[in-house]
Amino acid sequence: MKKYQFPEGFLWGGATAANQIEGGFDEGNKGLNIADVLPGGKERYEILLNPGFDFEIHLDQYHYPNHEAIDFYHRYKEDIALFAEMGFKAFRMSIAWTRIFPNGDELEANEEGLAFYDRVFDELHKHGIQPVVTISHYEMPLYLVKEYGGWRNRQVVAFFERYIKAIFNRYKNKVKYWMTFNEINSGLVMPIQGLGFSIQKEEDKYKSTFQAYHHQFVASAIAVKACHEIIPDSKIGCMILFAPVYSYDSNPENIMYALQEEQLFNYYCADVQVRGEYPAFIKRYFKEHNIELEIQEGDLELIKEGTVDYIGFSYYMSRTEKKVKTDAEASQGNLIGGVRNPFLKASDWGWEIDPIGLRISLNKLYDRYRKPLFVVENGLGAYDQVEGDGTINDDYRIDYLRDHIKAMGEAIEDGVELIGYTSWGCIDMVSMSTGEFSKRYGYIYVDKHDDGSGTLERKKKKSFFWYKDVIATNGELL
Ligand code: BG6
Repeated sequence: MKKYQFPEGFLWGGATAANQIEGGFDEGNKGLNIADVLPGGKERYEILLNPGFDFEIHLDQYHYPNHEAIDFYHRYKEDIALFAEMGFKAFRMSIAWTRIFPNGDELEANEEGLAFYDRVFDELHKHGIQPVVTISHYEMPLYLVKEYGGWRNRQVVAFFERYIKAIFNRYKNKVKYWMTFNEINSGLVMPIQGLGFSIQKEEDKYKSTFQAYHHQFVASAIAVKACHEIIPDSKIGCMILFAPVYSYDSNPENIMYALQEEQLFNYYCADVQVRGEYPAFIKRYFKEHNIELEIQEGDLELIKEGTVDYIGFSYYMSRTEKKVKTDAEASQGNLIGGVRNPFLKASDWGWEIDPIGLRISLNKLYDRYRKPLFVVENGLGAYDQVEGDGTINDDYRIDYLRDHIKAMGEAIEDGVELIGYTSWGCIDMVSMSTGEFSKRYGYIYVDKHDDGSGTLERKKKKSFFWYKDVIATNGELL
């Protein structure tokens, strides 16, 4: 079998987000955030993709799986020990903004929240695991959403600045790898989680969305500069959802359309955060959609100065597009739309499986930016079965991961600078898009189910032992 050469010091590990694992939603003075008001089940998917969400809890109608999640808040020691047993070099996690500033606009940080992450980082270091921290992962303070209108409002930039300075100062000796906004471009299709608002009737969707983005770009640049000042040996990246866009066929009209969709969805945010300026194609787009941004004096200079050190991205699927009418079927589950690609199989949730697409993505991103890349999410959501003898034989997950890791190995041979791989959901958790527990990604099974039942007991799946070998041989044993 071909041997792949991953660089020395490659950051093998797993990825999570606070709201999907921690639980303890009202403990330690934590305030409510967006994930706390998102119900479990199909309703969530509908809410995320449609306008008019009220951001209220309706206990009579729905259940809220993120409230308890998998109880990492109390079980982090046990979980980190399991990550260490697999040999993790890195663990991607997020800080819940509302543990540090419960409403978001307070002047003083919440000591109980700060102390919790101190304990988590200390535990990781005890096992030689580097924390890779997302500053904002779909968990904006609810108070900022309701009282200020989310990222539509410029005032939020100052609240964010207070938050990032509090965490950089507190954790400057414990965290070297940071990322600003998780999947920043996803707000173009799911503004609720990414931008902290739901489009209201009669609201100018374009104006609100791109103004909110401008505020996030300013906030991201402030974070990059502050991170470099406060933690000189740190690396701070952006984080984008990357799904390479293919044309359905060789009709040039479709190819042009695929290119434009790729520019808007894959490159618009990254261009601003990596190159430090709005790209030409988006200026044309703004003109054609009558979007005039409110840009304050100094914003563009700040954006130019606050460019990121690396590009973190998630990769789950490619996307196939057509403009000219064909008989192509709409894709079943791809969050970002498109048509079904006849060459690809899909997961049980309709996410198309395309390992070559990862090699394509790595090459595209590296060709465009020439900055180190970090695959900070990738994985297969699947139904797992616990056998009578207690084993979980998730060969389908191993196959998926093996193919994607090989694609990274090929990209490294292509000359791409890749610094790490943290596969998504290294331990089962609440699904972001559907709120289900049954959509499992982990190497570690958690006994928790969609109806809320389960003991929360952790079990090692077959993939646990396989990934341990992958890490131990630095990617050779695939
Ligand atoms: C990414 C998110 O889009 O996809 C994660 O950053 C999410 O938060 C992951 O969990 C997988 O999506 P899902 O809906 O299967 O949990």
